[in-house]
Amino acid sequence: MSYSIERANRFVAESKHLLVDQYRLHYHFMGEFGWINDPNGFVQYKGEYHLFYQYHPYQPVWGPMHWGHAVSKDLIEWRHLPVALAPDQEYDRDGCFSGSAIEHKDSLYLLYTGHIMTGPDITKDYYQVQNLAISQDGILFTKDAHNPVINTDQIPAHTSQKDFRDPKVFERNGQFYMVLGSNDDQGKGLILLYRSVDLHTWEYMNVMAQSDGTLGDNWECPDVFDLDGIDVLMMSPQRMSPQGNNYHNLHSTVYMLGKLDTDTGIFDYKQYIPIDYGFDFYACQTTLDQQGRRIMIGWMDSWEALMPTQNGHHWAGAMTLPREVIRDGERLLFCPVAELEQSRLEGLHAESFEVQGQQVLDYRGESYEIELNIDVSKSEEFAIHLRTGEAETTVLSYSPLEQLFRFNRDQSGIGPGGERIASLTTPEGQLHLRIFVDLSSVEVFLQDGEKVMTGRIYPQPESQGIALYSNGITQVQSLHIWNLVQPEQI
Ligand code: FRU
Repeated sequence: MSYSIERANRFVAESKHLLVDQYRLHYHFMGEFGWINDPNGFVQYKGEYHLFYQYHPYQPVWGPMHWGHAVSKDLIEWRHLPVALAPDQEYDRDGCFSGSAIEHKDSLYLLYTGHIMTGPDITKDYYQVQNLAISQDGILFTKDAHNPVINTDQIPAHTSQKDFRDPKVFERNGQFYMVLGSNDDQGKGLILLYRSVDLHTWEYMNVMAQSDGTLGDNWECPDVFDLDGIDVLMMSPQRMSPQGNNYHNLHSTVYMLGKLDTDTGIFDYKQYIPIDYGFDFYACQTTLDQQGRRIMIGWMDSWEALMPTQNGHHWAGAMTLPREVIRDGERLLFCPVAELEQSRLEGLHAESFEVQGQQVLDYRGESYEIELNIDVSKSEEFAIHLRTGEAETTVLSYSPLEQLFRFNRDQSGIGPGGERIASLTTPEGQLHLRIFVDLSSVEVFLQDGEKVMTGRIYPQPESQGIALYSNGITQVQSLHIWNLVQPEQI
């Protein structure tokens, strides 16, 4: 049977009751049913935030991609809308892949990749084109009669003729620009830049940036924006090799600060930096909101990772918390959006105490925020154990001597294990942590967003304990735990 928006909506409405909510998150975005991956078309339009996403509603595994759609007034509570795009045309027949949204002449324009298979091998037999769909009400989208708006004949020579995807569109000086992820067919990822005056007709400009050989063999989901006078390029390099403690996931995400020359179409950058230091973070996308904030959302999972909800739970995939991107000189900070503070309910609050050995906290939960200000100058190691139960624990720890922060999920439950490590300095022994736990996720914001570590965990529902641990003396200046979920939401 062929795919259509109506069929997808009907299927979701009829199947939703089958969902198993054991690991469903309480204050993070998820699809209603089936599989989701990348955030797409993240934009504020007529006052509301719109989030689209890669969606395969029929099964909790990746499949022919649709665009799911939701709206929010505050970035926290999302309302599901009908599916926005289904793979129902020749030029997107095997998937409406990732892309972006932009407001133009009061309408909402979606630019997305059409994926077309040419043979049985899903890793080789395909090509990709760029398409446009337009909506006046932000809900119903009409695919453009002239799609594809960028066909394969506009791919430059010496560039992959098949990996050509994930258009992110932005406006600069009255012109539209589109970045696309690709590679040089010789094992190096790159970004292509196109230009348009009307979003319909596109002209190829240049290879905007490319890998120096250390940045993976293909680049996906590029994003370019100006932040306080500097240009930022973000993207998701595939199969990047580890460098020290960094880039240990199969696929990574990085940002670069530099300058985009819109005459030559070249982005000049000096270094690249990981966006997230945890396990599960990919294909992030940003938008500029009406308050002037640059807000980023990522897919809080990883390709080819074991996702326990795929077996019998009828869903897979979630988004990270929306994070504000802030420029701090030559680096970026990533902070949970301020709206989250309005979700804080009762909890546990304590000030000025010492930890030596283990201290079990008088608080249990599955969906909460912890904020900690501590002085580690007299400790050899400080740790916080989360979601602890008889045989389970998730360990976040800091070693002042090594200046390393660790997220260990070897005993977190039924999901994948492993450890990720981020180097972190603590000037004058001061460490500030904000930790968000939500059923099957952990996000740790270190030193006011200097580094972030994100990971999925799948503990038993009973594993709800929290304990602090210190080897040597750790001085806790303040500890706050806020429950983040209204009891009636559970
Ligand atoms: C990134 C990605 C994109 C592609 C989409 C397909 O996770 O591989 O490059 O458009 O997912 O679902």
